[in-house]
Amino acid sequence: MSTDSVHEVSLVEKVDDKLTRRIFLAAAGAAGLAYTVALAYPIYRYLASPVEMALSATAITEVMLKDAQKLAAGSVLMFKFGPSPALLIHHEDGTWVSFTAVCTHLGCTVQYEPEQKRIHCACHGGVYDPRTGANVSGPPPKPLKAYKVAVTDAGVQVSRA
Ligand code: FES
Repeated sequence: MSTDSVHEVSLVEKVDDKLTRRIFLAAAGAAGLAYTVALAYPIYRYLASPVEMALSATAITEVMLKDAQKLAAGSVLMFKFGPSPALLIHHEDGTWVSFTAVCTHLGCTVQYEPEQKRIHCACHGGVYDPRTGANVSGPPPKPLKAYKVAVTDAGVQVSRA
């Protein structure tokens, strides 16, 4: 073997090494970018979601609940007021009330319990008055936000008070 052919072989090996290294670095860079995006996107969504929730919550001013006027006395209808859960209660005496179903303590969804005559938050035992939404016992610091209710032949219209 001549020195020229040895030189050619080592030159080819160097070119192959450089190419392999470039491919490896490109693949590692792409994997690193994908990993960073996979980590950053949930963080972005977590940080952005309260703002989006606030914007969409303020954009909604009323909800029409079709056929909800047929709701039996003594029962409840859960619905969405924008992005948030809400309660429409038709009391035994024929009165209607509606509240946000978001607990004022840490934001769990509350439930109406007609047999107990209360709105209850199962997360930490918060209790609200089902007629006024007032916080009665447990950790909730404020009453539930009340909505205005208008019963029509087509349904029940719930709007910001
Ligand atoms: S979140 Fe409702 S009582 Fe704590």
